[in-house]
Amino acid sequence: MFYLIYTRSFLDTDGDGVGDLEGIRRRLDYLAWLGVDALWLCPFYPSPMADFGYDVSDYTGVDPTYGTLAAFDRLLADAHQRGIRVLIDWVPNHTSDQHPWFVEARSSRDNPKRDWYVWRDQPNNWKAAFGGDTWTFDDATGQWYLHLFLPGQPDLDWRNPQVSEAMLDTLRFWLDRGVDGFRIDVVQGLTKDPDLPDDPPGLVLPHCAVNDCTDTHDVLRGIRRVADSYEGERALVGEVYLLSTRRVARYLAQGDQLHLAFDFTLLYAPWDAAAWRHRLRRAAEELDPIGAWPTWNLSNLDNPRHRTRYGTEARARAAAVLLLTVRGTPFVYYGEELGLEDATVPADRVLDPGGRDACRAPFPWDGGPGHGWPVDDPWLPWPPDTGTRNAAALTADGSSILHLYRRLIEARRASPALRDGGQRILESPDGVLAFERGEGDDRRRVVANFTSDPARMEGDDGGSWVVEVAADGAAEGRPFDGCLGPDAAILLRPA
Ligand code: GLC
Repeated sequence: MFYLIYTRSFLDTDGDGVGDLEGIRRRLDYLAWLGVDALWLCPFYPSPMADFGYDVSDYTGVDPTYGTLAAFDRLLADAHQRGIRVLIDWVPNHTSDQHPWFVEARSSRDNPKRDWYVWRDQPNNWKAAFGGDTWTFDDATGQWYLHLFLPGQPDLDWRNPQVSEAMLDTLRFWLDRGVDGFRIDVVQGLTKDPDLPDDPPGLVLPHCAVNDCTDTHDVLRGIRRVADSYEGERALVGEVYLLSTRRVARYLAQGDQLHLAFDFTLLYAPWDAAAWRHRLRRAAEELDPIGAWPTWNLSNLDNPRHRTRYGTEARARAAAVLLLTVRGTPFVYYGEELGLEDATVPADRVLDPGGRDACRAPFPWDGGPGHGWPVDDPWLPWPPDTGTRNAAALTADGSSILHLYRRLIEARRASPALRDGGQRILESPDGVLAFERGEGDDRRRVVANFTSDPARMEGDDGGSWVVEVAADGAAEGRPFDGCLGPDAAILLRPA
């Protein structure tokens, strides 16, 4: 199980109200207790923070807000000591406009770094991720530069071999330090059709969500060769934001590109059994034949938390049972194990140009005024109910959602069927999703009632299955009688 940390919001230790690397290091015992196998750390590179670190001005440094390289090394060593691996975010599609490469590139048309970025005399009609155009006119040199995201995030030109060499060197820098891999940002954007054709008129998506140029596969193969040239397992997990399992599958194909790629189809699915069943089937159809499997998350740094989307803790609990038992690799977003909701962010505290502050609120460690942080009022407002919904209170309460996560993670670790097994979707009544996982002799079943009415799994009243973990904690260890309460989700083992 991977655990995604929004670095700015996990824990501050130096009193600036922003989380830091040392804060993560100090909470490694909590993460080990929870059962985390690996971390994905959001960017901590030097950055002007136009996109809170996804605008990198130095790929081989640490922004003073988060600490130092030495602090990173300490965090990595202490994580490894606990058997926790560390993946860092790598942002290869674009740099910051403050990166020395771009400063040089825009200094004149004949600067040697000019064509490290994408310049044109005429813009096309592509729309940027957070609104507006993907092109900004540079007055001094009289040309437009491309940015799929903010104007402060100019796109690198990966067709230029110098760019690719320089960027691969930044991977080597961190691999040499011992990182276990990378979460790679905006993979689908890396190369563009060289003709930069207009998007179809009326396209509602920003260009970054449709850019899918086949040349990117070769770029990925180059990145994979670097990762594979290191000892030990080094993982490449891609954000291939194409919203189609079929398209994403191409970035996993042939075993020489990404190891894992997020499938956002569940994150965008409603709380509906048929919708989930359809997406699980699609994932199997697309990925089984190429020897890959899906990577699931229900919440992340770019979307409202699923606790908020689904509306109740009961559903968030049921979703946890599913996330941690379906076939694939689960990513837990920091704080979802507390059942955190999005924060309410008043207009005068809005910071993110992408409108994503609410899901990035600081993590409440205890019920005190600063919730374990050295300041009472960190960079973003606290999420709701932190007086009771905090790590200390939920750790002390064996019936909490936090303990549910822990039991599920433990069950997953202990069961080859849940870790590696195949998956068969079972017949079930409307509103219920049921599947069986199996590996060798080991079998598990999962049944989830997505409705607010009681439901019944026919044929499951014979006592052949025992409740191993239940979303509401009830009846664990007892035979399953086929009855499902509203929003119930249950992990079953053979009796
Ligand atoms: C990815 C990140 C997002 C960021 C964007 C641009 O989608 O998850 O937070 O704004 O890339 O780098």
